[in-house]
Amino acid sequence: MIPLTVYHFLQVLTQIIYIMFNNKFEIYEVEKMTPWWKKAVVYQIYPKSFQDSNGDGIGDLQGIIARLDYLENLGVDAIWLSPVYQSPGVDNGYDISNYEAIDPQYGTMADMDELIQKAKEHHIRIVMDLVVNHTSDQHQWFVEARKSKDNPYRDYYIWRDPVDGHEPNSLKSAFSGSAWKFDEQTGQYYLHFFAEQQPDLNWKNPELRQKIYDMMNFWLDKGIGGFRMDVIELIGKDPDKMIRENGPMLHPYLQEMNKNTFGDRDVMTVGETWNATPKIAEEYSDPARHELSMVFQFENQALDQQEGKEKWDLKPLDLGELKKVLVKWQTELDFNHAWNSLFWENHDIPRVISRWGNDKKYRVQCAKMFATVLHLMHGTPYIFNGEEIGMTNCPVKNIDEVEDIESVNMYHERLAEGYDKDKLIHAINVKGRDNARRPMQWNDEKNAGFTKSKPWLTVNPNYKEINVKKALADPNSIFYTYQELITLRHENEIVVNGDFKLVHDTGDEVLAYYRILGTEKWLVVANLSGEEQQFTSTDRIKENLLSNYAVRNDLHDITLKPYEAFAVAIK
Ligand code: NOJ
Repeated sequence: MIPLTVYHFLQVLTQIIYIMFNNKFEIYEVEKMTPWWKKAVVYQIYPKSFQDSNGDGIGDLQGIIARLDYLENLGVDAIWLSPVYQSPGVDNGYDISNYEAIDPQYGTMADMDELIQKAKEHHIRIVMDLVVNHTSDQHQWFVEARKSKDNPYRDYYIWRDPVDGHEPNSLKSAFSGSAWKFDEQTGQYYLHFFAEQQPDLNWKNPELRQKIYDMMNFWLDKGIGGFRMDVIELIGKDPDKMIRENGPMLHPYLQEMNKNTFGDRDVMTVGETWNATPKIAEEYSDPARHELSMVFQFENQALDQQEGKEKWDLKPLDLGELKKVLVKWQTELDFNHAWNSLFWENHDIPRVISRWGNDKKYRVQCAKMFATVLHLMHGTPYIFNGEEIGMTNCPVKNIDEVEDIESVNMYHERLAEGYDKDKLIHAINVKGRDNARRPMQWNDEKNAGFTKSKPWLTVNPNYKEINVKKALADPNSIFYTYQELITLRHENEIVVNGDFKLVHDTGDEVLAYYRILGTEKWLVVANLSGEEQQFTSTDRIKENLLSNYAVRNDLHDITLKPYEAFAVAIK
């Protein structure tokens, strides 16, 4: 009998060793193949509003350099820098008049080189905003193009003859009105999907495409960390067929771009794609297709707008729908052949705690909850400047206080159509882009430490309460939750590569999910609502990782506090 027992014992031991080794090996293999941007957390800076260094009321590159210590302390790996190129500023820099020059309000090319270098010393890469669906009407190409029909640059843009004395078709601009602008000088219309000062480029022209690739290489040669690609889904447009997004040539162009620019460089690329589905996202980000690293998808943005209408036509958010969209992108995207980006905010979107949380009574709790839910998901998280201290929306009373071209154009268009003024201002206060563009709140001194003179956009009056200085001094602040979440990602392979598995039947208000890697299993539980909720699980806690209330010892039949969120490793 005894030899048999020893034999069994040895057999079991071999199996244990095999499983342990194999598991370790698998994890090691996965880790080895993981590019840096899958492990990274990206911080978006809206330069005009981040930090003024020269007292003109406008943020600038030296201001960013001065805050690199702060960003290193937060722990981020890359900065996505909204445009700092030369621009007349009709759309705050998304209208570029020279891609290879820095706008004087932000500094010089020497400042830019210094930022790239100093950021590197802080272990931070600079991801540039690539705006190549359109240029400014002040760009030399357009200045030339509009001179005559046979100008060599004419075909860099999209021109059409009038039809019966009118616009060629009914395409609309995202900033109100027609997408066609009549140009007196040559008697033709040009296409602009955004402001009329932002003419769309004609990607069908190979010479134009090559110029863009040369410009991208100019920036890549400076050692940048990659590109965020503005409305990239539009470059394959076919305006005669009314095709805006996802045109037939979109992916061939991206493959060509990849081959001619960043394909063999260690950089990240993220495309802004408002109309992506998980399947479309895979087309962009499957490494075998040689296009982009990942895309931004915006499916949750339509959840508080009326069906078939515009973002200004508000409806209340249904938490069940929000949860469904979040889970959809975690489960329907095949992470073996695609990658996802994770974000709540950017410069076009209101502050999430004001929009879907409670920015008064539960400001701190809900900011931590939103951060926890997002940062422990599968994908690369992005933080928009100020989100990490729980900055809020900033309501206005009158249109004179609004800077953003999108809001201003919408207001005038709808007012002329007979809409109620107060309702329009309300919509702007809920959804307007100025909300996220208010100056960064650094301290409780005048203008929140953003500038010593008059800021280009007034500071949110709550800066005495909500600011970086205060956040850094309080060990329980939102800032430290973000810092912890970033550290968890950096130190735990499971956050980067673990599978996502939804915990079912928790109700619309509670989102709970597992991350699983080999034998390791984490559970994340979040109450998305401002009311108490019930939650139960048979899982047993091995380790508390993070929580925004007192830590949990037990998961059985618990009452979650308003916006409670926690993460635990389980046995
Ligand atoms: C998307 C950008 O994020 C937004 O700010 C800009 O207005 C449009 N694209 C046009 O460039």
